[in-house]
Parts: sequence; C-alpha cells; structure tokens
Amino acid sequence: MRILGIETSCDETASAVVTSQGRVLSSVVSSQVKLHGPMGGVVPEIASRAHVRSILPVIRAALSEASIDLGGIDGIAVTRGPGLIGALLVGVQTAKALAWSSRKPVVGVHHLMGHMMAPMLRIEGKPCPKRPWVALVASGGHTSLYAVSDGSGVVVLGQTRDDAAGEALDKGAKLLGLGYPGGPAIEAESALHAGNDARPFPRGLNRRGVLDFSFSGLKTALAVRVGALGEGLDSVTRRALCRAYEEAVVDSLVTKSLAACLESRILRLVVSGGVAANSRLRRTLEERTGRAGIELFLPPPEYCTDNAAMIALAGAPMLDRGENHVMDLAAAAYMPVPSGLPTCG
Ligand code: KG4
Ligand code: ZN
Repeated sequence: MRILGIETSCDETASAVVTSQGRVLSSVVSSQVKLHGPMGGVVPEIASRAHVRSILPVIRAALSEASIDLGGIDGIAVTRGPGLIGALLVGVQTAKALAWSSRKPVVGVHHLMGHMMAPMLRIEGKPCPKRPWVALVASGGHTSLYAVSDGSGVVVLGQTRDDAAGEALDKGAKLLGLGYPGGPAIEAESALHAGNDARPFPRGLNRRGVLDFSFSGLKTALAVRVGALGEGLDSVTRRALCRAYEEAVVDSLVTKSLAACLESRILRLVVSGGVAANSRLRRTLEERTGRAGIELFLPPPEYCTDNAAMIALAGAPMLDRGENHVMDLAAAAYMPVPSGLPTCG
C-alpha cells in the first residue's frame, strides 16, 4: 500500500508518501517559523491561515517527489488531534475532500501515535526496533515514557506533571531573549558556550522510582537568575545559562528514560518528538544507553520534529484493516493518549 500522509496539528504543513512497510517515498515539510518567530510563539490564527495557503502546494510536492498521482495512492492518513483546532481542521478537511473526490479511504491518526511510529520508518542504514521497547516522546506539547509491549499495548510509565520538555526550552529561550522555537535557539547558544560554566539548574522530581517529569521549577529557576542579573545578562553569561539549562533538560530526559528501561527490564529505547532533534540529547543518549547495555533507536532529526511520514505509517494498519473514517472524521484539539500502537511493517 502507498499512503498519503497529511499533518497540520501545529505550525508545520506536511505531506508525505510512505509504503505500508514504512519506506518513505517523499516527505515535504513547510515550516511557519518565519511567521511565528516575531510573535515569540505560535499564533493559532496565523497558523490556520498559513496552512490554508500551503496545504495544496505541499501535497502536490509530496506526490510529485514520489512520482505518483492521487490515483496511485491506496489511502490517506491525516492527523486528527491533539493540536490547534483551526490548524487541524485544515488538514482534516483537505484529507476528506481529497478522499471523497478520488474515492480513496481516509483515516484519522493520533499525533503522538505518529511520533511513536517515527522510529519504525525504514530509512536507509537505520535498523528498526523489535518489540517490546520503552518509548520517550518529548515534544512541544508532550513529554511521556511508554512501554510498548509485544502485542500492540501501550502503557504510560511516566509523564510530565507540568510543562513539556520542548515547552520548557521554548519558555526558557523567551526568558533569555532568544527567538522561537526555543529548542534550536538554546541548542545553538549552548554550542557557542566557551567560558566558565554556570551553576547547574535543579532537576525536577529527581527521586528513585519516580518516572514522571517536572520542568516548571527549572523555568522558574531560570526566571529568578535572569531577573537577578538584570542588565548584567551579557552574551557570555547567556551562553553559559543556555548550556546549563539544556543540560538540565537533557539529564532529566535521559536519567528517567534509562530508569524506565531498567525498571521495566526492557533494554530497548526509542526516542522521538521534536526535542529528540537536539544533538546534546542524542549524544548523551548514545553514551549513557551504551554504558547501560540498552539498545537505542533514534530517527534522523527531520523525522523527530513534526512530519507527515510518521502519520502515514501510523495510519497504515487502519487502512490495511479496511477502515474508512470519511464521514465521521472530525478534528479534536484534545485526545487521550492512545492505548495501542499499530502493528505493521
Ligand atoms: O514534535 P514537534 O515538532 O511539535 C510538537 O508536537 O510539539 O516539537 C516541537 C518542539 C518545540 O518545543 C521545539 O523547541 C523543540 O521541539 N525542538 C528542539 C529542537 N528542535 C525542535 N528542542 C531542542 N533541540 C532542538 N534541536
Ligand atoms: Zn509533534
């Protein structure tokens, strides 16, 4: 099967063509960063309007890159939620219209299910994990640890009690006067750090046996330090703070992921979501899982942030079962975390 994926849950308009085995035939992402950057964060109405402008050109580009037309597609998978409702509606309505006009089936996919499936995409030179595994999903809206069993069951092992990791980075960057999105901005500043290290930041819920995350105290600690510095916040100090702040986020994510693997005795870890594009996180994961004898699976950075290839793959088993949500498909800003992960590939 060849599946057309569509993703518009936040500020990326994305479309991809993927086979049901997870081979990526094309993946096109149109980012709205330039539109939201000056606002310091995503403005929902601006996002919806930009999706309306980009959605058809992006879908056309994905089809053309895969050298296919709509007639050669076996089904459409679109992100149904969670996300910004106006943004989601653009993807969902477009998917329904295309499905109706081309008489193809269409299925709605949970955005997190897409992130969890990203490591299953068959990308040259990348092995795919075998179940069971522990999954860390760290994005702008979610930070959770799951146990994905041999069947299709998904059990939540831990989740953030306040901010998501990406949200902590975005808010931290704002406090430091850096641009949006904050994750890449903090990563870039941290990489330039060369002087004395800043005092380490606290790690939230840093207790044995606790797999939940907390990042709001970290953000408050940064706000206090930035406030105390006032005019004294020069570029050298800012870089040192970025390094220490990034390290606190990375350390919490890695420590809890390793603990989740060891406690559940599943020595296989897959990591996805936008924050997994961070190179310090990727390096630290490689070092610490290597020492602990845990197998690590990390999608390439462009498949960690929002994309439609992961959505197409997550929709593949539903289409394979003959599902077609066309009349009932509705966007949903809030959706419970899925309790099952598709088996495919
Ligand atoms: O998965 P994603 O693209 O969208 C959501 O589903 O939220 O994740 C976006 C988040 C943002 O908070 C962004 O700052 C963060 O991922 N992010 C990064 C990096 N690239 C994106 N965080 C740290 N380092 C990066 N290189
Ligand atoms: Zn996402």
